[in-house]
Amino acid sequence: MKTESIPVAALTQAQAEEELARLAAEIEAHDNRYYQQDAPAISDAEYDALRLRNAEIEARFPALRRPDSPSLRVGAAPLDAFKKAPHARPMLSLDNAFDDRDVADFYERVRRFLRLGDADPLVLTAEPKIDGVSANLRYENGRLVRGATRGDGLVGEDITANLRTIADIPDNLAGDDLPAVIEVRGEVYMAHSDFAALNERQQAAGKQAFMNPRNAAAGSLRQLDSKVTAARPLRFFAYAWGEADAVPGDTQMAVIEAFANWGFTTNPMMRRCADVAALIAAYTDFSALRPELDYDIDGVVYKVDRLDYQQRLGAVSRAPRWAIAHKFPAEQAQTVLEDIDIQVGRTGALTPVAKLRPVTVGGVVVSNATLHNEDEIARKDVRIGDTVIVQRAGDVIPQIVRVLPERRPQSAVPFEFPRICPACGSHAEREINKNTGKTDVVRRCSGGLICPAQAVERLKHFVSRDAFDIDGLGSKQVEAFYMAGLVQRPSDIFTLAARDERSLTPLRQREGWGAQSAKNLFAAIEARRRIELPRFIYALGIRYVGQTTARLLAKHFGTGALFISAMQQLADEAECEESEIRDAVLAIDGVGPAVIDALQIFFSEPHNRDEIGELLKLIDIEEFKQSGQQSTISGKTIVFTGKLEKVTRSEAKARAEALGAKVSSAVSAKTDLVVAGPGAGSKLKKAQELGVETIDEDSWLEISGG
Ligand code: IVH
Repeated sequence: MKTESIPVAALTQAQAEEELARLAAEIEAHDNRYYQQDAPAISDAEYDALRLRNAEIEARFPALRRPDSPSLRVGAAPLDAFKKAPHARPMLSLDNAFDDRDVADFYERVRRFLRLGDADPLVLTAEPKIDGVSANLRYENGRLVRGATRGDGLVGEDITANLRTIADIPDNLAGDDLPAVIEVRGEVYMAHSDFAALNERQQAAGKQAFMNPRNAAAGSLRQLDSKVTAARPLRFFAYAWGEADAVPGDTQMAVIEAFANWGFTTNPMMRRCADVAALIAAYTDFSALRPELDYDIDGVVYKVDRLDYQQRLGAVSRAPRWAIAHKFPAEQAQTVLEDIDIQVGRTGALTPVAKLRPVTVGGVVVSNATLHNEDEIARKDVRIGDTVIVQRAGDVIPQIVRVLPERRPQSAVPFEFPRICPACGSHAEREINKNTGKTDVVRRCSGGLICPAQAVERLKHFVSRDAFDIDGLGSKQVEAFYMAGLVQRPSDIFTLAARDERSLTPLRQREGWGAQSAKNLFAAIEARRRIELPRFIYALGIRYVGQTTARLLAKHFGTGALFISAMQQLADEAECEESEIRDAVLAIDGVGPAVIDALQIFFSEPHNRDEIGELLKLIDIEEFKQSGQQSTISGKTIVFTGKLEKVTRSEAKARAEALGAKVSSAVSAKTDLVVAGPGAGSKLKKAQELGVETIDEDSWLEISGG
């Protein structure tokens, strides 16, 4: 008998596992047909029956719920269903402080940056950090014209219709003297009481309950039909802003008060703090109030109150220098560690994962936790069978805090970390770090290209959302294509359609595929033959080269051709004592030696070079276009010398970089501008000899808008 015809109550554990896998794949395929192709293959009732069966099996075997279970994406539409909404100003995230020391350090750092004297006051605001979903609301002449999610901070999704259904969000701002353009930012969240009532309704209607209020808020915002969102009790706190041609106040507090006058709901706990002690007092007060609040908060946000100070402080990478989030300690629970799984990642790293008896931590069922690496297992002496404390902090993967030795069964033996890759059988070794001479904590599979786990993980990364983002080519398809020998390396993706035409077993005849879905996939691949440079670099999956570093490299090199030739030179000079290209890459702010080493290793590998050569025959890489502000300084190389009297050196440097300039410490023929203060000596002389433009601090402040 096929497992799909066995009643839920009669399924064995193994059959249930198989059934959940089948249902996940089948429901996803129907979702794709429904949302992306507007061509459902089954009736709504049949579809509901599949979801119901999935939910019933999960209710009987909670431990078997898959990370990609359909029940975890209740009603969520695929991302492509919404229009992209680029942000006029990036939506930043916040740096974290975990204890009082971090808070004091932050406060001192701000004082130093601003060069405040001992007697100069520095006031900060304190407000709760709301655990919801952030949104950007654009008002033109007082009318809401667009609302978007945060997305990756640069581009969100246009969810205007859904945001309009929220009572806390005014369609028209109250009052006169409104700015022509202002973007109000804040958090969409669901109150506990509303959440409980919603889940009751969901369950009564035979639908899956939401995991927590945050998920409920996120899921509700992502409804394609805004009538569904309207029926969900969402709320909104305004706490920040984006683009604005005028800001209604000189301080954070004054602006938030103005928002309240315009008709927004603002958090009543927000207050001003004049020193570190007052910040900590706010933290203590908010923690004490937390259990009584009707919404989730996960920390306290401190912001420099004066906006002229905020402006001077600016931002580093993805977070402002003028704000920090002081996080509440993570939530913990106790459970049994049933097994340790070894997973092989894209770079061959063997990662141990704890398989836990499912337990609820802070409202979420946890059955996996990271164990980091073998040293960590040894240090904590974690053994299979142990009772352990697990903790969850925000969105991070749950962690094992410690074991309870008094509850250890006699049979529990120390864990032996495998010396052999579980995916390909190659030796797994711990590298010795060239610079420190220390043994790396990570054990890596040496199988490289022959290791299927690495190859598959690399392919998954290559097509993932922030890389090539190919619709219809998800993890499951990558795995299946790899196994079938259809796609073994990235360039194979771009020859797939041509090979398919000649194939005796074309994709449309394979299980799970049809003429339409195969056609859609080929169209999606075709659409990605042109790719932005940062995505291309990120897609290569080079160690330490995440999205931020990929962007920095793209910005620096500008074109794919320049990037690749520089990288080849870097690899060719890997053994040289003095490498000009190495120094040049190191000079990119944000790129350190670990990144350079990783680039060198990657581009020294002939297989990688060959593969890039193949790819370049099949795709076009777009030139990098600088988004954001353009200024006269953008792209220039600037040297600061002598004493600056109105701003600190680090502030001037940060400002120059924010405007797109490169700051260098030595004057050469490549220098475009020298900013010289009193006491400038040899550098100023050299600049004059070379005929480099030289200006004083006042002129600098003028051109940099300081
Ligand atoms: S201010 C430039 N204030 O926390 C600063 N953020 O970790 C912008 N958040 O993406 C953020 N409550 O979703 C700010 N009172 C609050 C907040 C808050 C929650 C979220 C927000 C942001 C994330 C940053």
